[in-house]
Amino acid sequence: MTKPEHIALLDSASPADSKTYYLKTFGCQMNVYDSERMMEALARDGYSATDAPDNADLIILNTCHIREKAAEKVYSDLGRLRDIKNLRAAQGKNTVITVAGCVAQAEGREITRRQPAVDLVVGPQSYHRLDQLIGRVAKTGDRIVETEFEGENKFAEMTAPRRVSSPSAFLTIQEGCDKFCTFCVVPYTRGVEFSRPVADLEQEARALVEAGAVELTLLGQNVNAYHGEGASGRSVSLAELIRRLADIDGIQRIRYTTSHPHDMSDDLIVAHRDIAQLMPSLHLPVQSGSDRLLAAMNRKHTAADYLSIIDKVKSACPGIALSSDFIVGFPGETDTDAEATLALVREVGFAQSFSFKYSPRPGTPASGFGEQVPEALKTERLLALQALLEEQQLTFNRASIGQVATVLFERLGREGGQLVGRTSHLQLIHATGPASMIGQIARVDITQARQMSLTGVIQAA
Ligand code: 5AD
Ligand code: SF4
Repeated sequence: MTKPEHIALLDSASPADSKTYYLKTFGCQMNVYDSERMMEALARDGYSATDAPDNADLIILNTCHIREKAAEKVYSDLGRLRDIKNLRAAQGKNTVITVAGCVAQAEGREITRRQPAVDLVVGPQSYHRLDQLIGRVAKTGDRIVETEFEGENKFAEMTAPRRVSSPSAFLTIQEGCDKFCTFCVVPYTRGVEFSRPVADLEQEARALVEAGAVELTLLGQNVNAYHGEGASGRSVSLAELIRRLADIDGIQRIRYTTSHPHDMSDDLIVAHRDIAQLMPSLHLPVQSGSDRLLAAMNRKHTAADYLSIIDKVKSACPGIALSSDFIVGFPGETDTDAEATLALVREVGFAQSFSFKYSPRPGTPASGFGEQVPEALKTERLLALQALLEEQQLTFNRASIGQVATVLFERLGREGGQLVGRTSHLQLIHATGPASMIGQIARVDITQARQMSLTGVIQAA
């Protein structure tokens, strides 16, 4: 398999004698972005990547705390990593085990208590000091837990990316959340909302293009609350930022995620009509179709508010691919509430969705609410919701058959000669073509549709 020359991949091979690291990423796209920045910092410090923890001098788990299952996976991985560390120690090799990400932030010292093999716990606000912290652990053998919110701009301390792992790159523009939905740990693990200044983002976007990116997905836990500082201290909205980034040569596609309905301003909706590079897809979590539950979740919108935003979005950008997140089995959810969610889904018609059973998170208000829904009922409601969402996804994909899609090819597929890309509507698509097309946008005739992906034939240039 050859890699496209214009994309300098992050997992480049390394000299046999250099220090090696193994990094595993859990959870959301923001963790993927953070992992890429950490990998770049490690490469600068002379580390090279390995995909086997047994060979690694440094092991990093970049973790997710959003649901209990995600957090527990970390502890089972840590048990296996402790055994590897012991085995390597018997061979005279040292291994530094690091837990980063949202479990690190939320659980701090509890992690080293539950798994003493962990050397370093580092929260997302301290990644710019990762090298110093690893150095201190290596020198002193001390265990370090670093989970302060220091108030410094960690992004300013991290250098601009020089490599991308895909022509579709992530760019974190905003971090943290002030919404305090009653089920969610994010305001506690990522802190209050912070928007990066426009000039920094323009600089980083240029660096990503230089490294081979043609598509940018702007990331934030509450991305459409973005209000970064522009020239002379003026506050700039997400729509205006997108306009500025669209002016950068080489940026052919822009997406953004994740948005909150409360911040879905008219200028952002209109941007979907007016900015050619802004792709016709929108991820707008609703969580529930029941007003009673939306209030208990502290979502700051009703089902009718959500539907009216969707109407406006659909008229600004007909055919837009809509997606959402849903939680079933929130405390107190009745059959009527669950039915209201199904009714909302039927009314909107989603192209793709993510649905989860409610998972009580320590320290969040909803974990203390009475009337927790029994597990069996959560399962039943999740299956009913997912059946409807899957049917809608298949309907959306089938409607593409016979149409011509513009596709950005991102990587090679599993079968020989196969490329994998995304349509402008974010559908996964497979087509036969040369590896040199990775990083290019082509017109593709869509011939087949399944629930999760499309197949197509690349049109002659
Ligand atoms: N339980 C289940 N799902 C949750 N989410 C956030 N917190 C919880 C929780 N405690 C879901 C929401 C959110 C997505 C990222 O994860 O749907 O939009
Ligand atoms: Fe969590 Fe999103 Fe609600 Fe913020 S808006 S608290 S990130 S679910």
